[in-house]
Amino acid sequence: MNTVIKVLVENTTPRSPLLGEYGFSAQVLVDGHNILFDTGSHAALFSNSRALGVDLSQVQDLFISHGHYDHTGAVLPFLQQYGGRNIYAHSGIFAHRLVNLPGGKQVDIGCRFTRDEAIKMGAQVIPIDSFSEIYSGIYLTGEIPRLTEYEDVGGNFVYEKDGKLYQDSLPDDIALVIDHPEGLIILSGCSHSGMINTLDYCLKQTGRTRVLAYMGGTHLMTASPLRLEKTIEALKIYEIQKIIVGHCTGFYAAAELYNQLGGQRVFKMDVGSSFSF
Ligand SMILES: [Fe+2]
Ligand SMILES: [Fe+2]
Repeated sequence: MNTVIKVLVENTTPRSPLLGEYGFSAQVLVDGHNILFDTGSHAALFSNSRALGVDLSQVQDLFISHGHYDHTGAVLPFLQQYGGRNIYAHSGIFAHRLVNLPGGKQVDIGCRFTRDEAIKMGAQVIPIDSFSEIYSGIYLTGEIPRLTEYEDVGGNFVYEKDGKLYQDSLPDDIALVIDHPEGLIILSGCSHSGMINTLDYCLKQTGRTRVLAYMGGTHLMTASPLRLEKTIEALKIYEIQKIIVGHCTGFYAAAELYNQLGGQRVFKMDVGSSFSF
């Protein structure tokens, strides 16, 4: 099961002309499938793909990790340029989402396309609310149960419904799972469900015991020292060969993971990083 995951959008860039942009997008090539996992927040997807020699017209499907702007911002421009595709996502991605910032300011951080807009552009929006096999050995988790007591969504997120605001638990946060013979490859956009909840659920649903790689945003940038410590303690139990972090991981959490779990296992991804399994 030859798998290549190439980072097309990430917060940081290692070299010109690649652009850093707050958000995440990766191309996943596995068993002849060409999947775009998230799209970043604006236009970096297109210029970075050009610079990296990635032909986006060959992308077969879009997988969307959750309904935040920094993962959905280039969906409509993508459909406009390359035509309709199947968009696999949890049905909750279209909620009207905001974040409460310190000082009382609220900012709209919701999904940057509506179902109708996507359909008008020839896309099919396919709801994935529970653990589903999309292609042989390639799964999307659907909603991930929140079982650990030390993990949270990673921010003061709210959603608006009928004029009222509610705490947002991001039920639409889903991960991609590849059932590789050497262990699971788990790709998450922001891990709003928590890295450990995500890992536990993927192992439980597949019945596997080994994890080859956990890759993605981890939303540890807002983690308390206790959460970070407990997450690292739990990660030590799983013998994950590669933990590839970026986006909303934050420098300090990434450094702590690197220090405690080792440079042979922990990698910080940038735009253009490519991992083969
Ligand atoms: Fe994000
Ligand atoms: Fe997010």
